[in-house]
Amino acid sequence: MHFDVISLFPEMVMQAASYGVTGKAIEKKIVSLSAWNPRDYTTDKHRTVDAKPYGGGPGMVMKYQPLADAVKNAKSSQDCKNKKVVYLSPQGKVINQHLLSTIKHDTDQLILIAGRYEGVDERFIETICDEEWSLGDYVISGGELGALIVIDAVTRLLPDVLGDEDSAKQDSYSDGLLEFPHYTRPEKLDQGNVPEILLSGNHAKIERWRTKQALGRTWKKRSDLLEHKKLTAIEHGLLEEFKLEVQ
Ligand SMILES: C[S@@+](CC[C@H](N)C(=O)[O-])C[C@H]1O[C@@H](n2cnc3c(N)ncnc32)[C@H](O)[C@@H]1O
Repeated sequence: MHFDVISLFPEMVMQAASYGVTGKAIEKKIVSLSAWNPRDYTTDKHRTVDAKPYGGGPGMVMKYQPLADAVKNAKSSQDCKNKKVVYLSPQGKVINQHLLSTIKHDTDQLILIAGRYEGVDERFIETICDEEWSLGDYVISGGELGALIVIDAVTRLLPDVLGDEDSAKQDSYSDGLLEFPHYTRPEKLDQGNVPEILLSGNHAKIERWRTKQALGRTWKKRSDLLEHKKLTAIEHGLLEEFKLEVQ
């Protein structure tokens, strides 16, 4: 999988992605990343990437041509079949685990556009971008953080990225539920003890307990997720058991 980020701050993207899981995945060549500065595709001596909005109003808008040329170069730099251009925008569809896991399956070059200022010329979105994705219903100053979030979240789903393959499969949202709680050493603290069952060594019982906790905490913290999830009869039973236990 190859990622491109079109950004006025390419160093910020390259630097941040070089840490932790994404950094390792780049080192291992499971993913690759390039950052492209629209300023390198300007044609005037001031290297102008933005201009005032037509119709007046505050702020500046990123110009069509430097962005379009940056995308063109990013596209032609890779010999990939399934390319997708995504503009990070507060007006896009909100990113979730399902959206990101479809990318893992149907895209091999993901070109992420990080806007700045008031955003980008609408004609760029209409003619060059395939989709608009949002971090949520709030506005931040630039799309770089969004691009980095997408790169991180997609990368950790790819084979051989995480130390343990099951790690991403168990994560919250991967199966429509929040993940079960975790405990580590020491076994006893003044603040409470590790649940007995986790010390039992009985893997079937531990699995059952974890499924019950995942269902229970989803019900407690994010009941909206359960509206979209079809529970099996066993899961129904475990959730009812959880509800009785917390009453
Ligand atoms: C200050 S914002 C522009 C917001 C724009 N004027 C609006 O109200 O829709 C600058 C850039 O930050 C990024 N951005 C801001 N909020 C975002 C969000 N919730 N999700 C994704 N990107 C966002 C976008 O790339 C955007 O072009």
